Amino acid sequence: MNFDLERIRADFPILKREVNGHPLAYLDSAASAQRPLAVINAESHFYQHGYAAVHRGIHTLSAQATTDMENVRHQAARFLNATSPEEIVFVKGTTEGINLVANSWGGSQLQSGDNIIITAMEHHANIVPWQMVAERTGASIRVLELTENGELALEQLASLIDSRTRLLAVTHVSNVLGTINPVKEIVAQAKAAGVVTLIDGAQAVMHQKVDVQDIDCDFYIFSGHKLYGPTGTGILYGRKALLEMMPPWEGGGSMIDMVMLPTGTTYGKAPWRFEAGTPNTGGIIGLGAALAYVNTIGLDTIHQREEMLMRYALDKLASVPDLKIYGPQTRTGVIAFNLGKHHAYDVGSFLDQYGIAIRTGHHCAMPLMRHYDVPAMCRASFAFYNSEEEADRLAAGLTRIHRLLGG
Ligand SMILES: Cc1ncc(COP(=O)(O)O)c(C=O)c1O
Repeated sequence: MNFDLERIRADFPILKREVNGHPLAYLDSAASAQRPLAVINAESHFYQHGYAAVHRGIHTLSAQATTDMENVRHQAARFLNATSPEEIVFVKGTTEGINLVANSWGGSQLQSGDNIIITAMEHHANIVPWQMVAERTGASIRVLELTENGELALEQLASLIDSRTRLLAVTHVSNVLGTINPVKEIVAQAKAAGVVTLIDGAQAVMHQKVDVQDIDCDFYIFSGHKLYGPTGTGILYGRKALLEMMPPWEGGGSMIDMVMLPTGTTYGKAPWRFEAGTPNTGGIIGLGAALAYVNTIGLDTIHQREEMLMRYALDKLASVPDLKIYGPQTRTGVIAFNLGKHHAYDVGSFLDQYGIAIRTGHHCAMPLMRHYDVPAMCRASFAFYNSEEEADRLAAGLTRIHRLLGG
C-alpha cells in the first residue's frame, strides 16, 4: 500500500496543534473530521473570487457559481454511483436528509396502521424523525434488536416485516460500535416484501466505497463534515422514481415552477424541489473539494490503512487493565469503551489533559446505552490521518488513569 502518513498529515494543518502542552491526538473524527487544506482553500477561493447567489442571476459570477455547485451534484452522484445527478439532493447533513424523507415521503405515504422498522443501534437522527412522523400519521415503530456483541439480530427481521411495513431505516455503520451492517442483504429482504429502504451512511462513506446501485436502497444519506468537508453540508441520494413522486417539504424560492395567488402554486422538478431558499454554496463547493480529496487518496487505500490502524489500536488497548470494549471484533472507524467503574466524562477529561481528544457521553444513541446498561461510553475514532503512535498514547493514557484512579 502506497501511503505516506507524514505527507497526509501535512494536508491537515490542525494536526500540528498542541493541546494542554502535548501534541494533539485527534481521535474524534467520527463526530467531525478535520478538513484538509484542499477543502479550506476551495471554500476560501470561492469567497475571494467566485461568490454570488446561485440560480437567480444572469451575471457571470452567479452563472459560474451555479455551474460549480451543480458540478458537485455530478461529483456526488459519481461518488455514490447514483444513476443520475437528479438523484442527489443537497441537505445540511444526515439529520436534515432523514427529516426530509420522513416528512416528504413519510408524511405523504404513511397511514394509520402502517409500520416502520428501525434498529436499536440507530443514532437519534434515524429514530426521532420516524417517531415524529409516526405520531402524525398513526403509523407505529418496530425495533430490530441487537445481539450481545453489538450486531443486528437479523434472524428477527422476517418476523418484524408484515403487509403493513412501509419502510426500513438502518445505519450502514454504527456510530458507537463500529458494526458494519450487511445493508445489501437487509435491503434485499425488505425489497422482497415491497418495503422502502433508507440507509444512514453518516459513519460509512468515509471508510469504504459505497455503491447505491449495488446496495439497491431507495435512500442513502451522509454528512459532509464527517467526510473531511464543511459543516452544514450533506447528501441525500433518493431513487429517481421515489423523489419524483415525493412532495416538497419546505416552501420558498428556488423550489417552485409557478407561484400563483391566492393558490395554485406549482413546484419545480426533483431534486431542486427539495432545496428551498439560498443554499450553502460555499459549503457545497468545499464538499466537492472533499470528495475530490478522498478520491485522490482513494477509498481502497483509506480502507486498508484504517483497517490496519484499527487492528493495531485494538491490540494495544487489550493490555489496558479493566478496559471494557463494546461491539464486534470486525468494525470500522470507532472503538467504544469504559474504564473500570469510572464515568466516561472523567476518563475523557483526563485524556484531554494528555492532549488526546475522544468523545464521551451517550453518542446520540440512548437506546444503545440502555442495551449495555451504561449511562455513557468513551469513544475513540480513527481516520486515515491518525498514527500508530496516537493509538499508543491512548493506551498509555488509559493505563495511567487506571493507575491513578484504580479500577
Ligand atoms: C450514524 C449517524 N447518523 C446520523 C448522524 C447525524 O449527523 P449530522 O449531525 O451531521 O446531521 C450522525 C452524527 O454523529 C451519525 O453518526
